[in-house]
Amino acid sequence: MAAVTEVGARVRGRVVVPGDKSISHRALMFAALATGTSRIDGILDSADVRSTASVLRALGVDVPPLAATMSVTGVGFRGFRAPEVALDCGNSGTTTRLMAGIVAGLPFTSRFTGDESLSRRPMRRVAGPLETMGARITLNGDALPMQIEGGPLRPIRFMNTPASAQVKSAVLLAGLVAGVTVAVIEPEPSRDHTERFLLALGADLQVRDDIIVLRPPAALRAFALRVPGDPSSAAFFAAAAALAKGGELELPGVLASGTRDGFFRTLAEMGAVVGAEPPTVTDAGEMVTTYRVSPGSLRGVTVPKDRVPSMIDELPLLACVAAYAEGETVISGAAELRVKESDRIATTAHNLAKVGVTVEELPDGMRIVGRPGARLSGRVVTHGDHRIAMAFGVLGAMPGNAIEVDDPECVGVSYPGFWDDLARVAA
Ligand code: S3P
Repeated sequence: MAAVTEVGARVRGRVVVPGDKSISHRALMFAALATGTSRIDGILDSADVRSTASVLRALGVDVPPLAATMSVTGVGFRGFRAPEVALDCGNSGTTTRLMAGIVAGLPFTSRFTGDESLSRRPMRRVAGPLETMGARITLNGDALPMQIEGGPLRPIRFMNTPASAQVKSAVLLAGLVAGVTVAVIEPEPSRDHTERFLLALGADLQVRDDIIVLRPPAALRAFALRVPGDPSSAAFFAAAAALAKGGELELPGVLASGTRDGFFRTLAEMGAVVGAEPPTVTDAGEMVTTYRVSPGSLRGVTVPKDRVPSMIDELPLLACVAAYAEGETVISGAAELRVKESDRIATTAHNLAKVGVTVEELPDGMRIVGRPGARLSGRVVTHGDHRIAMAFGVLGAMPGNAIEVDDPECVGVSYPGFWDDLARVAA
């Protein structure tokens, strides 16, 4: 089925976006590692988070079906059992890399597999530090299937370049499970949800300048958590509101920590009206805000390289917004986009060109020449990449555009209700 959504010139109303994907994965993992029963409200029920749930089940944790309110009883660091099946991570890089850290410290062998897209993604970056710590790992080149023979580990001092929250988290989780001190040096900060979670659970985690040191506790206590709304999902609606002719869109309960708000900051710099209520601190030490977004006359920007990690998953969307911003938008320092669910530099640039936008692909980014008022049309090839489908879905929702997305169902990886929510606010 192909989705063609055409909607009015005003975007209005309110979207309560689903729970944050990164925090949903971590909530399940920390609940599994804890002693006692944790309660999780507002978890994201999407294909990626289901992958984490099913991997934990294969390791002997009794994880119920994902639900708006759910409880998970942990097994502690030592209660996992050897899996009898391969750990199928589906499309989810976060499941693979974070769970690799957990099983590296456990006394058995695990084998990770995934879908076609995940099986092309680099795994040496996570296998390397875990091997240095003492796990025995085999890969297929740089990729899945990945076999991990876990056991007692050694402390590590690890340099996290290129900045990857997944690799950093794998090292922290390996140290946690194995009971050894780990230090991670981060020249460029990546999302810090694992650190905030550990701190909220009372772990001895110190962050000084760019060095994170975890001295692992003997056990983790259970917790109650409401998962904040996902800024990477909210970004699509913020973009739709910024590109509209009028109206205002309210996005309540969105995660607003500084490692995730780069898209909202950039949209404001481009000329959209972006308001954010003073953030409140919520469970797991995270900040939450209500964003209100209205259109403005947009101009191109050069995205500062040091802002890239805080909006890495939103860069394809930013490139789509830039198609309507007066002048040039330049994204660079974002070579990591090439190893996401698809090569997001190539997929974004090819699809923008296909629908009629002037765009140049750079080795580590893109240059987009905006044309306010442009009419865009064509068929977008997503390569099964959820964020490409949703970014072009936003362009397709603008009056006068006729953009068809080849695989609209792939949004189920992070946001199963996306097309319904988009149609509702833009109708
Ligand atoms: C994530 C980290 C980021 C991000 C991904 C989720 C996480 O990847 O792109 O969608 O939950 O830790 P990297 O760690 O590879 O940068």
